[in-house]
Amino acid sequence: MERQQIQTYLNSNKERFLNELLDLLRIPSISARAEHKSDMNKTADAIKQRLIEAGADKVEICQTKGYPVVYGEKIIDPSKPTVVVYGHYDVQPADPLDLWDSPPFEPVIKKTEVHPEGAIFARGSCDDKGQMYMHVKAFEIMMKTNTLPCNVKFMIEGEEEVGSPSLGPWIIENKEKLKGDIILISDTSIIANDIPSIDSGLRGLAYMEVEVTGPNRDLHSGVYGGAVANPVNILCKMIASCHDENNHITVPGFYDKVQELSAEERAEMAKAPFNLEDYKKDLDINEERGEKGYSSNERTGIRPTLDVNGIWGGYTGEGAKTVLPSKAFAKISMRLVPNQSSKEISDLFIKHFESIAPKSVKVKVTAHHGGEPVVVPITSKGFLAASKAMEETYGKKPVPTRSGGSIPIVALFKKELGMDSILFGFGLDSDALHSPNEHYGVFNYYKGIETIPLFYKYFTV
Ligand code: BES
Ligand code: MN
Ligand code: MN
Repeated sequence: MERQQIQTYLNSNKERFLNELLDLLRIPSISARAEHKSDMNKTADAIKQRLIEAGADKVEICQTKGYPVVYGEKIIDPSKPTVVVYGHYDVQPADPLDLWDSPPFEPVIKKTEVHPEGAIFARGSCDDKGQMYMHVKAFEIMMKTNTLPCNVKFMIEGEEEVGSPSLGPWIIENKEKLKGDIILISDTSIIANDIPSIDSGLRGLAYMEVEVTGPNRDLHSGVYGGAVANPVNILCKMIASCHDENNHITVPGFYDKVQELSAEERAEMAKAPFNLEDYKKDLDINEERGEKGYSSNERTGIRPTLDVNGIWGGYTGEGAKTVLPSKAFAKISMRLVPNQSSKEISDLFIKHFESIAPKSVKVKVTAHHGGEPVVVPITSKGFLAASKAMEETYGKKPVPTRSGGSIPIVALFKKELGMDSILFGFGLDSDALHSPNEHYGVFNYYKGIETIPLFYKYFTV
């Protein structure tokens, strides 16, 4: 009955729901770039308007030290449960721009092999405007069809892609306002459009920047080359030494606190479908690679990693300039698993990296933002409600999975607000998040909107 009402409302509003999302995607809300400050505020204003139109009360733009949080709520009965929806309206920078087939902030809908019904190509379509906006539309449906079964609070932030520096302090100052029973987030992926899944964990993050200095100035590489340390050569060697021949990380103490899974848990995890051939084809690689003794899903789900995100130094312009550079730099991130701590791992890395530097260079290591790993219980009421909701709309029980990505604020929701999060994502890993040609399936968008009200229903009973 309710499902029918939801379907009918959705069907007669599909085009508007899509166009409203396209409008949001036209605003380049890149949190990492200061020149987009006005776009950030414009996006926050637009979301505020949409929440009001959908029927939320007390909708406000909450200022923080950084970009604002959009808040709104609908309290139908204080004795009923409260779902707190989290999402982010900021997006990653779009560059390299020349690798986009269409401009990143001019959304277009195109069919792909994975998305025969069409996908919306735009920065932020999947991560996270498209997934966040499903919640606004699901709320509208519940309001307009009189089927909202419990209370709801929205908290949509603008700094997730830069590590949520202001949201942590903001939730601590607003504990009373944010009181609720569960955090609901759509900012992760399912396995495939015919294989629904729900993440039961996220990895943490420790992000470092290193600077290696050799001679006090760039030198003629013929006059000095061979007699003076080249910081780029040395940095490459130092980075290469951080993995051994089995792709284990060599930083002393790195694995000390890693929670090992039991054989049963690993066997359970191995049930999640994974098609290696599709995986390789999507990425155009001949072979996967990772830590010895683990499957691809384990390598991203339950094992920590160390990766270079960027490396530079010396001459990188047109043609050839013969130079022995004075400095070399790299940005190195480590993804963490339970029970590693971002601060402890950062400290171990700094100590190790300084210790392996030869005397011929100086090394400076600084830590950027980080975040703690999380696991959510798969037997909780919230997880079961999410599972039932997906089972109903996909016709299949979703598989519990562990995600390799990070949403640093989720650990703080637990620590500061005492609430677990349900990672109710509807995107696909192949949707090119953070890459050129990011897209989000139109099927996924509507499926999310249709499934979310069922979560409320099953969470409330
Ligand atoms: N939505 C992603 C995280 C994600 C993507 C989780 C896909 C699971 C599947 C989020 O916006 C993100 O990109 N997080 C960053 C962390 C942040 C500190 C920049 C990440 O994981 O790199
Ligand atoms: Mn995201
Ligand atoms: Mn992201």
